[in-house]
Amino acid sequence: MQLDRDDERILAGEQGETKQKMLELLVALGKVFGAERLVPIASAQVSGASYKTIGEYGLQWLSSLDAKAVVPAVLNPIGMPRDRWQEMGVDEDFAAKQQAVIAAYERLGIALECTCTPYYLRETHFGDHLAWSESSAVSYANSVIGARTNREGGPGALAAALVGKTPCYGLHLAENRKPQVIVRVQADTRDWTIAHYGALGYHVGKMVGNRIPFFSGIDPDKDQLKGLGAAMAATGAVALYHVEGVTPEALDGSFDLSSPETIAVESGEIKKLFKEIPVDAVAVGCPHCSPAELEEIAGLLKGKIVRMPFYVFASQGVIDKVPRAVEAIEKSGARVFADTCMVVSPVMEQYEAIMVNSGKALAYVPDMCAAVARIGTIEDCVLVGTE
Ligand code: F3S
Repeated sequence: MQLDRDDERILAGEQGETKQKMLELLVALGKVFGAERLVPIASAQVSGASYKTIGEYGLQWLSSLDAKAVVPAVLNPIGMPRDRWQEMGVDEDFAAKQQAVIAAYERLGIALECTCTPYYLRETHFGDHLAWSESSAVSYANSVIGARTNREGGPGALAAALVGKTPCYGLHLAENRKPQVIVRVQADTRDWTIAHYGALGYHVGKMVGNRIPFFSGIDPDKDQLKGLGAAMAATGAVALYHVEGVTPEALDGSFDLSSPETIAVESGEIKKLFKEIPVDAVAVGCPHCSPAELEEIAGLLKGKIVRMPFYVFASQGVIDKVPRAVEAIEKSGARVFADTCMVVSPVMEQYEAIMVNSGKALAYVPDMCAAVARIGTIEDCVLVGTE
């Protein structure tokens, strides 16, 4: 693998042991995947932030590192809201461990924006090379923005943040970004919501695995694309998809679509995922809500009172953009929590059945929260969750 003089100095230990080890990790990854060089990155998004997922060994490893991020870098959601963990019902032992994880990342120069939607906080551009690790963020960056990132593991993304580069292979290369399977959606999608696109992604992810799908027959907006990609990354391992005439690399009709297999999806296959199951909590914001979603939820909850725990998750930066919407949501008794989410917080394990408007949450809640998951539109969530 080609390395420049700066890289050689880092490998010689001139910038400390942590950076040396981190670059060794990146070089080893690059060799495994056949990368010829490292590529500078515009930003990193580092998973492995919740104490629920990394545990004591993860915390000890993070605490042993000594270097500073050299590019803008944020964290994935953690196990609790940093300021309101008591209100969310997080126990003190967990909170202390989680605070230690955060402190370790802060020492490494990682910004304490704990979110899977970093693209709402910092402009990310078409063609930017990134080292992001949360699967829905990776999908959005590649597919909706046209930036380039592989789905990094937590240590790989952290190493990239500290070194400022990542191995150039996989989705960093144009030749690896072509469609591999065509998905023709044969349904009237004019009334489809984020939940419908999440359900579509849930269904298609199981069929396409880790291939790159090219969709036709749909016209989703950006929040709906977010839900579609998040779900496909959960039930499959889709890190990039294209939508005919919608996503940036599928605008000009230049892909050769003569050889990929074609899958047809009909509306009945999506509708049957919307089952009416009794629930004891509602959780929306997977991936974290956009400002527009928070405003929509505020409008729907206006004049209503929730009759069960009703969680809304978003990044602190997005919450700060629409304070009146957040206030209106909380007036109903629902809670808007930053930094965390329904999957990485231990608090959600107390419920038996959780209603979501997300295909990704539909896939993850059963295993990660040991609860039944029900998907519905945001209107359905409000209807079920309020008096
Ligand atoms: Fe984000 Fe948590 Fe969902 S990290 S995509 S809100 S599972």
